[in-house]
Amino acid sequence: MTGDLKFGIGIAYIVASILFVVGIKMLSSAATARRGNLLSSVGMLVAIVATLLTRGMSYTWILVAMIVGSAIGLIAARKVKMTGMPELVGLFNGFGGLASLLVAWAEFVLKGDATAYSTFTAIAIALTAVVGAVTFSGSCVAFGKLAGLLPGKPILYKGQQAVNVLILILALVCGALFVCQGAYPALVALTIVAIILGVLSVIAIGGADMPVVICLLNSYSGLAACLAGFIIENNVLIVAGSLVGASGLILTTIMCKAMNRSLANVLFSGFGAVTESRGASYQGEAKSLTAQDAYFILEAARSVVFVPGYGMAVAQAQHAVRELGELLEANGTDVNYCIHPVAGRMPGHMNVLLAEANVPYEQLVEPDDSNPIMPTLDVAMVIGANDVVNPAAKDDEQSPLYGMPIIEVDQARTCIVLKRSLKPGFAGVENPLFFKENTRMLFGDAKASISELVTEFKDA
Ligand code: TAP
Repeated sequence: MTGDLKFGIGIAYIVASILFVVGIKMLSSAATARRGNLLSSVGMLVAIVATLLTRGMSYTWILVAMIVGSAIGLIAARKVKMTGMPELVGLFNGFGGLASLLVAWAEFVLKGDATAYSTFTAIAIALTAVVGAVTFSGSCVAFGKLAGLLPGKPILYKGQQAVNVLILILALVCGALFVCQGAYPALVALTIVAIILGVLSVIAIGGADMPVVICLLNSYSGLAACLAGFIIENNVLIVAGSLVGASGLILTTIMCKAMNRSLANVLFSGFGAVTESRGASYQGEAKSLTAQDAYFILEAARSVVFVPGYGMAVAQAQHAVRELGELLEANGTDVNYCIHPVAGRMPGHMNVLLAEANVPYEQLVEPDDSNPIMPTLDVAMVIGANDVVNPAAKDDEQSPLYGMPIIEVDQARTCIVLKRSLKPGFAGVENPLFFKENTRMLFGDAKASISELVTEFKDA
């Protein structure tokens, strides 16, 4: 490669890295997120084009891979439903890990023997193989759990942690052998052990905790890409991999904090197993109302906050909710949407659904903004949310949810809860909200109930 070309590629990589960083920064606000995504995509295009200018590549194979990969990606993206997004993201992480694992293997096979590369590269190959393989197998299990192909309950057995530690030690021994001798069998053993480690670590975690695990695996896939960057000495891969690794870790931490659980608790407690404490059992009368009764309450309300949860995603009620919001506004009501960080089953689940339904960003508020003014609001309308509005998290020290920050809908003048039954949500914890004096239950599918309310407003 000529000096000028090398210099040009270096500059292109710097431009791409800047675009990644600015793009990620813009993702932190709903108003700029789309442009941020576009900017990062342009950065990736710059990085790919610059890499393709490197001499000595087989363009035929690259073209075939790009066509096949793009076709699979396009079909998957068009076919997958919003409720299936977490498993799709999980699978993508797994492929990221697999790609890095293959880079490590390719470099080893190409170089032929240990004397052809430095100890640093040997360590990078071993680490990439471990992290890539754990990411791949762990993501496959996470995908299987979310897609219902594997049991959602955590699979626990006696001495599980000890087995995991033993496997980790085995991986370290294989890794050390590979680095010292550069032997083919050591890399094979290391890869197999890492695949087993990925499977065993993730089967012990409950299906509903998979979104947190997927964020962590996303972080691992970034780490694997970063390590692969060191193997092939590609700066942009190192930068992009570090960004994915760091942002995935930050997101994992944010989600754990929003559930008031430590990462260790998510990874090792087996939350969701039958032995879990379920907190107190609440008795009393849950007062139900009809859509017409709810219409009269909403029609008279001056301020309404919608609180969406996983049930809104299941019912695909977001468009009907936006329509109801517009009708309320036309009636002179102040309308907002309060989103809990872990409402739904993936980070930003509710934000994505409401954005898809064109709910204005300015109407989205956070629990910290909404909770202080909740007692002044006429109606809090809970749409398929349960754990994230459970007052036991504040009031019942025995509850597994105790300490989890919630949206305090019980403080509004009237709280209308839309769900199909009195059954608990993901945490399996009973919800005293349903029996509160100011709560009214609107039973049924959320989309059907909201659509009835829309019809009531239109017919009025
Ligand atoms: P959940 O507590 O899971 O409650 C969802 C409720 O939706 C259920 O109680 C269900 O009640 C109702 N529902 C289901 N289908 C419905 C339909 N078609 N129409 C109306 N209602 C329907 O949801 P949430 O409040 O959003 O809380 C999320 C939970 O997931 C939290 O515990 C959180 O910690 C956990 N979690 C979230 C994440 C992320 S990243 N979001 C990650 C890990 C864990 P019925 O069956 O009675 O209808």
